[in-house]
Amino acid sequence: MMAKPLPSTDKDLFSRDSVRNSRAVDDAIREMAPAVYLEREDIVMLGRYEHVSKGLVDWKSFSNTSRPWHDPNSVRPEILLTDDPPRHTQVRAVIGRALSPKAMKAMDDAFRREAEILVDDLLRNGDTEIDAVSGITARYVHKVLPDLMGLPEQGREKMTPFGNAVWATMGPMNDLFHEAMAGAGDSFEWVDKSCNRESIRPDSLGGEMYAAADRGEISEQDAKLLTLTILSAGSDTTVITMGNAINLFARFPEQYRILRDDPPLLRNAFDEALRWDAPSRMAGRIAQVDVPVDDYVIPAGTRCGLMFAAANRDPRRWDQPEKFDVRRDVRGHLGWGQGIHMCVGKALAQAEADALLGELVKRVKCIEPAGEPEPWMTTIGHGPIKVPVRLLAA
Ligand code: HEM
Repeated sequence: MMAKPLPSTDKDLFSRDSVRNSRAVDDAIREMAPAVYLEREDIVMLGRYEHVSKGLVDWKSFSNTSRPWHDPNSVRPEILLTDDPPRHTQVRAVIGRALSPKAMKAMDDAFRREAEILVDDLLRNGDTEIDAVSGITARYVHKVLPDLMGLPEQGREKMTPFGNAVWATMGPMNDLFHEAMAGAGDSFEWVDKSCNRESIRPDSLGGEMYAAADRGEISEQDAKLLTLTILSAGSDTTVITMGNAINLFARFPEQYRILRDDPPLLRNAFDEALRWDAPSRMAGRIAQVDVPVDDYVIPAGTRCGLMFAAANRDPRRWDQPEKFDVRRDVRGHLGWGQGIHMCVGKALAQAEADALLGELVKRVKCIEPAGEPEPWMTTIGHGPIKVPVRLLAA
């Protein structure tokens, strides 16, 4: 049977307006058809859970080596997420060992201590009103992540403009891209210098990357690229996902109460927050062969967007997807990705969330909204960048 022509749209998914409403915009693409051609971008989007999940696992059909809008000279570290096996396998072994659940367990005490210090400070005068992103999650991640990496103390405020610019390189070069680049200032120089062997504390995660180079497992250049990668991939993702979790705790108070009554539910609640809204709208891939998707065929050579966030709300897969339910069986959600590129920093992000959100659950009896959340104005990254809340001390 002949494949049907791919449905197409001239809608701009990455305009300011679309970014502001990206939940609705992405869901509309998912509902339009299993595969939709974006005329402006010359890419094909897949938004249904079944196809996104299959596509993430099938790395032979969907390669990572040339993703949509790929610019090999961009400022983003070109390693791991831009590799296929066998290079991917070799590099992933090194970073995977350093970020393993066992290695992260050893960090628990440090993460908990920092969470206690932060929450003590937040609640020093009792109830408080604060932006949960800049005042809680970014403050926390921008302390514990560079500490873990062995980076110098000075200049860490540059992590925000650096993150904005790195995320911008994942998407089209529109006005949001240029704004992020213009806002980067000297953050790239700072990051580049801070991730050099001479700047890194040897007894740190960054130090481990260089030790792997000394053992000949990776090159010296790869050790630096991996250090840069952990810093860029591990920061905004965790800041936004924890910020979104706090936002949901405020907007679904009965779910927060369930969690306070049963704190071991926290891991599941964090995953459910990630299912409800992922910090990345899509994974970029390039089709290596003609890929059938229901009645359509994506031709070999097509750049594609596998839409994590839309798939995580696909009603074909999830019962009442808009509901935040801390007891939901959330296994199989795509917020961490799937297959060989599945998030290698998951254990680290979970350890941070266990410590920080765990401390809030223990010490804050109720979180109330104190204003509307503001969206992160970036094209591929996604989520609330400002979450005004009122914390009522327990
Ligand atoms: C809640 C926080 C996080 C979320 C939601 C998240 C999400 C993801 C997703 C969806 C992918 C797959 C991308 C794709 O297939 O195209 C991924 C990959 C990756 N993540 Fe995370 N991430 C988080 C935290 C972290 C942290 C803390 C680190 C580092 C310390 C990290 C490092 C990476 C790296 C290096 C990859 C590429 C892995 C590969 O290509 O094999 N992530 N992450």
